[in-house]
Amino acid sequence: MNKWVKGTSLALAAVAVLAGATVLVGKAMGERKMQRVISVPSTQLLVPAARASLEQGRYLFATRGCADCHTASGGGKEVINSGAMLVISPNITRGANSATATYVGTDWVRTLRHGVKPDGRPVMIMPSEDYNRLSNDDVASIIAYVQQLPPVPGRRATVQLPVAVKVLYAFGYVKDAAELIDHVLPPQPPVLAAVSLAHGAYVANSCVGCHGATLSGGKIPGAPPEWPAPANLTTGNGSAMKRYPTPELFMAMLRSGKRPDGSAISSVMPFGSLREMNDVDVRALHSYLQTLPPRAAGGR
Ligand code: HEC
Ligand code: HEC
Repeated sequence: MNKWVKGTSLALAAVAVLAGATVLVGKAMGERKMQRVISVPSTQLLVPAARASLEQGRYLFATRGCADCHTASGGGKEVINSGAMLVISPNITRGANSATATYVGTDWVRTLRHGVKPDGRPVMIMPSEDYNRLSNDDVASIIAYVQQLPPVPGRRATVQLPVAVKVLYAFGYVKDAAELIDHVLPPQPPVLAAVSLAHGAYVANSCVGCHGATLSGGKIPGAPPEWPAPANLTTGNGSAMKRYPTPELFMAMLRSGKRPDGSAISSVMPFGSLREMNDVDVRALHSYLQTLPPRAAGGR
């Protein structure tokens, strides 16, 4: 072996060792971060003195993703099973293996609005950033609805992440909900459910977890590699909304899971929830999306 080759292979070996060490350190840091304790200011955890409505709670549970991930009964299910990634949502009824059996009011608010479990640790998969802006009435309605679900048996949560995702999480490329939430922002005042831009913006909060804070889409950091990138919902380059100039076309897509040309949209889009959205929500959402400032696809 000539000196140069030897030098290069030594250098490469050194790089490989360093890279290996970075992965090990990153994995350990990611695991520590998952166990970190987050304190939410107690004033933010007050149980909303609000008008809770079971019907509104049922509607939000069905249309904002809860039923999609925890099932309609609340018993939980396998949410992701892809390669080294396994996610099982917990039972949120009072049945066997309940995650909520000992919940008091502040625990519901901490989990839903702040993405923090009663033990102070972050939820990893549940998109609490989508729920942080729910009004007091709506949070109270969801809590009231879940609390009266009949107990069914279920499982405890499982969240197994690939090493690469743990490393990306350690270095902040993948974020948990608690990192994305402004924990001191006061709750959103109630918005009248009507075909208005204000209500459309309110409904659009349930799209940001996947389509990004600015709704311009792009790969969800840490998601399984086979998941397609959520589409650009702004009016910018590559906008998917160009296919939906009317609320009727948009509604047909949400209810069928198909584009106007008949092709199927990935089931990563939670059509189980979206097809339950009522006309007012869909029309308000459609008119709001038309007003988004144009952004290039993928900016999230
Ligand atoms: C994308 C799937 C998903 C959606 C949508 C979702 N959850 Fe979850 N939820 C989970 C998973 C997974 C966990 C386990 C914690 C984690 O994310 O690491 C969880 C945990 C919980 C917990 C227990 C937290 C603890 O103390 O351990 C509650 C309560 C809960 N979810 C309620 C809800 C409600 C109510 C909604 C709708 C407003 C909802 N979830 C929407 C997936 C989801
Ligand atoms: C769990 C993640 C998730 C959530 C929540 C979600 N989406 Fe999507 N969405 C996706 C993915 C992934 C795609 C890309 C699908 C594909 O390319 O087949 C997509 C695609 C779309 C498209 C493009 C359809 C087309 O013609 O190709 C529109 C429009 C859309 N979403 C609107 C919304 C709206 C509005 C909401 C909120 C009410 C929402 N999505 C919530 C993941 C999500």
